Amino acid sequence: MKVRVYGAQPDELRLYEEAEKQGDLSFVFAKAPLNEETVQEVQDCEALILLTNCQVNEKVAEELSKKGVKYLACRSAGTDHVDYAAVKRLGMCCCNVPFYAPEAIAEHTILMALRVLRHEKKCSAKVAAGDYTLEGLKGRQLGQLTAGVLGTGRIGRTTMNLLNGFGARVLGWDPYPNDAAAKLCTYVERDELLKQSDIIFLHCPLTPDSYHVIGRETLGMMKEGAVLINTARGGLVDQDAVLEALERGRLGGFAFDVYENEAAFVRKKKTLAEIDDPTFQALLARDDAIYSPHVAFYTDGAIYSMIEVTLANLREYLTTGQCRNEVKEEAGPV
Ligand code: NAI
Repeated sequence: MKVRVYGAQPDELRLYEEAEKQGDLSFVFAKAPLNEETVQEVQDCEALILLTNCQVNEKVAEELSKKGVKYLACRSAGTDHVDYAAVKRLGMCCCNVPFYAPEAIAEHTILMALRVLRHEKKCSAKVAAGDYTLEGLKGRQLGQLTAGVLGTGRIGRTTMNLLNGFGARVLGWDPYPNDAAAKLCTYVERDELLKQSDIIFLHCPLTPDSYHVIGRETLGMMKEGAVLINTARGGLVDQDAVLEALERGRLGGFAFDVYENEAAFVRKKKTLAEIDDPTFQALLARDDAIYSPHVAFYTDGAIYSMIEVTLANLREYLTTGQCRNEVKEEAGPV
């Protein structure tokens, strides 16, 4: 089966070379992410391996179907970049890597939380400017805070474990609470979590229900000076409302590894001026907003595991026509 691979990094190529030796899969590597502009470059492939900066909307799915593509293998846990309903309607299959290394994302989440709480961005800027004073650097200890986790699945639970290690009081909310998480947090109603938490972690998938779950209304319910950490999906957050809340001091800090319009720049080299997004520019200029370009997953262990599972998914389609990791929910662009 010929597979077109999106977003492969140079250090990952040896994993594909190894896989080719088995003789059942062969790979071609795409230079640009898949979207309406690049879909015409797809030729003679039965399967695609997709990264989250690819965008399979209905139009792209229709083109892929015409070109004979049968399998879309997301190399990620999140699948909100694929219009799954359209893919199914066109008779294609779509799978994901439901979990690879929740620890990778959870550790990065805690890193971002600590960076915000200890004013690390401001501290580095001061040192770079030869200012070694304490002014503006008084931080907060994670272990003394009430931490609210929205989404208590694999990553949410791993973050809660770490938060418990720090000694934080951990609250959780999830439309489908689970027993494993109940041992790591106190489940409360969502609005109660928003009201009580000093720091809020987003670990839920992006769905029509969760789109802009953090917006003007929910920001208004949060404690004055609360901190928000988003390492899940950009679309969970209304970025304009967050910027406004930071400017008004209502929000005490914001760390984000994901951004709603990140497809315009993530995995590319661009100056801030070239990114035509005043909200993003304003956020990056702030000391209390910490950004990383969707790298929470990016550790050696996680990458190896993601590619292994993706290749196993494709081999399962090849041999049985089905896959245990077929996407189950009709999550699509919102
Ligand atoms: P999971 O499926 O194990 O857990 C997700 C949890 O969220 C479930 O318990 C589910 O019931 C809950 N949920 C669903 N809708 C919700 C809502 N509206 N509000 C609150 N909770 C809701 O997924 P996992 O592995 O924990 O991943 C969570 C998300 O993290 C993924 O969907 C993905 O978007 C994001 N992610 C980000 C990465 C990064 O590099 N920044 C890497 C991997 C995942």
